[in-house]
Amino acid sequence: MTSHVSWLVYNGGLYTEKFKDYQQLMTKAAARHGVEMHPVANDQLLAAVGMDSPLVLPDHLPAPDFIHFADKDIPLADTLEENGFRLFNKAEAVAVCDDKRLMHRAFAASGVRQPATILAPMAYPNVGRKDISYIDRVEKALGLPMVVKEAFGSFGEQVYWVETKEALYDTAARLQGVPHLYQEAVMESFGRDVRLNVIGGKVAASMKRTSEHDFRANVTAGGRTVPYEPTREQKEAALHAARAVGADFAGVDLFLNEGSPIVCEINSNPHVRSIIECTGVHVEDTMIRHMISEGGRV
Ligand SMILES: Nc1ncnc2c1ncn2[C@@H]1O[C@H](COP(=O)(O)OP(=O)(O)O)[C@@H](O)[C@H]1O
Ligand SMILES: [Mg+2]
Repeated sequence: MTSHVSWLVYNGGLYTEKFKDYQQLMTKAAARHGVEMHPVANDQLLAAVGMDSPLVLPDHLPAPDFIHFADKDIPLADTLEENGFRLFNKAEAVAVCDDKRLMHRAFAASGVRQPATILAPMAYPNVGRKDISYIDRVEKALGLPMVVKEAFGSFGEQVYWVETKEALYDTAARLQGVPHLYQEAVMESFGRDVRLNVIGGKVAASMKRTSEHDFRANVTAGGRTVPYEPTREQKEAALHAARAVGADFAGVDLFLNEGSPIVCEINSNPHVRSIIECTGVHVEDTMIRHMISEGGRV
């Protein structure tokens, strides 16, 4: 017997195999818990401004008790929340995690340990900046090697390792007009990290990721995974980071360093297939249970 209705909002323009798989995984888990979960592309839910109705919805879409928001369409997420829907994750958490600059600032505001980071000065797209000598001060402050990251990116695809001043200049020059940041390299963690999957203030599963040929440990970048038992400190660091950004669901990446754990980043929309296969823990069921217990219109 179905007792709840929910929407799984995904991006209609990014409907890859990975996202199709995620959708199937979640809708099947939902069904196991009596939740009728409707996949809805973000372009089916049109946010309307200054009109009688704030949403232009398709016909025959049943109203949800809660929404699994697996997209990064922030204005849409805000509009849904303004209309009383409970989103998992909340719009604010998605927005903060989407932009690595906001995420690192949120970590700092909550005292989450993270690598030293400098935000690139804003440059207008298609205008850029001719004089990038600020880079000398970045190099002096952070040293080399260094990691440069675009503010918006995933799967390690917009993260760059720079060893020399020339490479730093080239990378910075190429990224003028693209929001990005400069970050101290965590050498001890080269090619390895740990991913802790946090659901509703608890660590649900963890794995260690290692890459033999790349500084990035992302699975999509070729990282291999093994189940991992995090220390109490690592669990606390992951929960602290998830709280700092207000995330119900969080894929928290920690560096593998000596001493207190250092947080690399949080993914507000983590793909869970690899952690399920690696650990055998069905985090998708825990996610559904969390949404049922916390959901309902606000
Ligand atoms: N400061 C750093 N020092 C060393 N390795 C890093 C650093 N930042 C990121 N990495 C490596 O690169 C990977 C991808 O970086 P991350 O910030 O998680 O970007 P993405 O959102 O693309 O996954 C991390 O999982 C980690 O292995
Ligand atoms: Mg990552």
